[in-house]
Amino acid sequence: MSIKNQSLSTSFIALENKHGAHNYHPLEVVLSKGKGVFVWDVEGKKYYDFLSAYSAINQGHCHPKIINALKSQAENLTLTSRAFYNDKLGQYEKFITHYFGFDKILPMNTGAEAVETAIKICRKYAYEKMKIPEEKATIIVCDNNFHGRTTTIISFSNDEAARKNFGPYTPGFVKIPYNDIDALENIIQTTENIAGFLVEPIQGEAGVYVPHDGYLKKAKEICEQNNILFIADEVQTGIARTGKLLAVDYENIIPDILILGKALSGGVYPVSAVLASNKIMDVIKPGQHGSTFGGNPLAANVAIAALEVVKEENLAENAYKLGRIFRKELNEFIKNSDLVSLVRGKGLLNAIVINDTEDSSTALDICIQLKENGLLAKPTHGNIIRFAPPLVITEDQLMDCISIIKKTIVEFVN
Ligand SMILES: Cc1ncc(COP(=O)(O)O)c(C=O)c1O
Repeated sequence: MSIKNQSLSTSFIALENKHGAHNYHPLEVVLSKGKGVFVWDVEGKKYYDFLSAYSAINQGHCHPKIINALKSQAENLTLTSRAFYNDKLGQYEKFITHYFGFDKILPMNTGAEAVETAIKICRKYAYEKMKIPEEKATIIVCDNNFHGRTTTIISFSNDEAARKNFGPYTPGFVKIPYNDIDALENIIQTTENIAGFLVEPIQGEAGVYVPHDGYLKKAKEICEQNNILFIADEVQTGIARTGKLLAVDYENIIPDILILGKALSGGVYPVSAVLASNKIMDVIKPGQHGSTFGGNPLAANVAIAALEVVKEENLAENAYKLGRIFRKELNEFIKNSDLVSLVRGKGLLNAIVINDTEDSSTALDICIQLKENGLLAKPTHGNIIRFAPPLVITEDQLMDCISIIKKTIVEFVN
């Protein structure tokens, strides 16, 4: 890297540090281009993207079909607000409800907004259909959840960094351990006015915690028996990431409320959605919920293209097949490694657990070394590195990435 180029990166980093709030701690790489599984920094160095913007780029960077959908729509009509109808929203609503098998969608923009929307729908349904007394509806959530950053959502987070000094917190949530059916049964028996159970089918941010087979199915069964809405947050796990269209598909269950975001647009534009049956969605009446941008024609056109790409390019099947190879190869490798204690995941949402204390910087240091070797990844909570490449990755590219990861870990130990 030349001195001139080095100063280019440094100057972009300095600009962000000076003028932007310090609410992230990015890896020191400044990206200016992306195509498929690759990104390039401002110095022209090429990397494999093994984060995919937290699983928003499932279809690969700048997918031509999705970009064309964005461009063509941008030239015609971008935003009407919901004060008027537009000629794209209805088409999108029909398309996405058929695609996922629900009656209705409520379109929003970010994942957190969609989670907020699901919470509001659940509460309203509780008061109007379940006859729960006003102000008393309670939603069960799980320890170490991650559902976004709004004041309500962080109210039921365990993450001190996300919570501390942002109170007072929103009431109406009770927490139970994740992947614990007894805890779910127990809380339902001992707590009044439970309206819903909000759960991530795999806890992504927490460190890619995969629950036991059967957990989600059993949880859904218990919810049904007790007239509680089962709300699946598939913002990170959905849209083929885990090797099925939805992670709940592994257990053949249909959530009462499904929350989607991120890859719903292939990372091209913020698009999120809440899907439910007529019976549930119809509790929302005009004026009771909304968003200026939610359901705009640009988002609608982009999301249709992004979802078509998932099926046309068999991304779920690819994630399923390559995920198995990834875990097999790395599990084999770590038998002889003291540095990595565990590999886990489903499809192409995987993580390695570093054998060091939670507060050590080892995972971050490995990511810095991975960057030097041409692969971008980032630690999640604790000493865990998440690996989530775009799902358009080929087997040859994956094998190349596995070599980079192995080589980096060997270098790191030596
Ligand atoms: C499971 C889950 N829900 C919600 C969100 C929030 O999405 P957004 O950052 O688009 O608000 C995330 C983001 O990582 C997530 O992983």
